[in-house]
Amino acid sequence: MEILILGHSALREKAKPVENIDGELKQIIDKMAETMYKAKGLGLAANQVGILKRFFIMDISQREGERELEVYINPEILSVEGETVYEEGCLSIPGYYAPVKRYAKLYVKAYDINGNPFEKELEGISAVAFQHEYDHLDGILFIDRLSPLKKQLFKRWWKKHHKK
Ligand code: NI
Repeated sequence: MEILILGHSALREKAKPVENIDGELKQIIDKMAETMYKAKGLGLAANQVGILKRFFIMDISQREGERELEVYINPEILSVEGETVYEEGCLSIPGYYAPVKRYAKLYVKAYDINGNPFEKELEGISAVAFQHEYDHLDGILFIDRLSPLKKQLFKRWWKKHHKK
């Protein structure tokens, strides 16, 4: 699968709920996982591969060299707590990293790959990654959450490094 890069309209659209959790979706998720691992990303949202449906995958265990794929279909954030700042990057904005303020703890709900609902408490990098991917489903990118000054700096950086 091809990962869409900043400038592609699919990254700016709000994804629609998944209606069927079936074999087809499973296949798509397998391909997305392959793409994410190959790109060495911690997460990948459907929008980033041009699918405007509300689901994403993440694997934060990769840091220790093991695999533990997490799938969130039709995710919802039920409650939030605290604040944390973490240096984020995005496969759709290659090469750029910046600290972003996020909630430190989340209580979330979603459906798994078998169509079963589950609830989960997330904190630390899991909470950060979830919020980053969740934003993608609403057409929001982490650069949108930077200060006005940092946004300006980013624009300059992007022009310089991603000239078409
Ligand atoms: Ni991203």
